[in-house]
Amino acid sequence: MGRYNRKGVRQMDRKTGLYQDLEKILLTKEQIAGKVCELGKTITRDYAGKKPVLVCILKGASVFFADLIREIELPLTLDFMAISSYGSATKTSGVVRILKDLDNDIVGRDVIVVEDIVDTGVTLSYLKKILLQRGANSLRIAALLDKPARRKVPDLKVDYMCFDIPDAFVVGYGLDYDQTYRNLPDIGILSPGIYEK
Ligand code: IMP
Ligand code: MG
Repeated sequence: MGRYNRKGVRQMDRKTGLYQDLEKILLTKEQIAGKVCELGKTITRDYAGKKPVLVCILKGASVFFADLIREIELPLTLDFMAISSYGSATKTSGVVRILKDLDNDIVGRDVIVVEDIVDTGVTLSYLKKILLQRGANSLRIAALLDKPARRKVPDLKVDYMCFDIPDAFVVGYGLDYDQTYRNLPDIGILSPGIYEK
């Protein structure tokens, strides 16, 4: 599974293993890293003098979160939340359940919710509402991907967005299909044959 380049960095073979299930690679890990670095700088600037709490929405945002927090030069804190709106299908159910809540309270805190992808927007608009009710001083959303064509909540404001993508089911860099493919370093469109089986 992969080779090492001259700098000793592992290069996954993009034609074998999990990559065979992709229709195409949409965003390479290099493209993603560039955007994540830019976003880290923007957040560092916007929150200068503050101590924000970054909330990772498990599990999809975990890879993005791990990279993003290391690009932010602030005394931030972390918290984690798991919610479910999907099951194992590729279409949202519209039902949002909290599977794991925050460990710490957020009264008076500047909260940045970190999400993998905004699809219909149902999950994030629900989350935004409940976190604001808990007395956060401010709340912003940072998402890696946006599928604007599928939005059902048109007034949902996503403050920080890395990439707009077409209406296709994507996996990799934390995003899954049926809990698999999260460890792909790139983001790709899953071959429809995989979920139409
Ligand atoms: P929303 O509530 O419809 O915006 O759903 C957002 C959630 O659906 C994301 O956090 C993902 O977990 C999941 N999701 C939406 N589109 C995709 C996709 O293309 N690949 C993998 N997961 C997706
Ligand atoms: Mg998710």
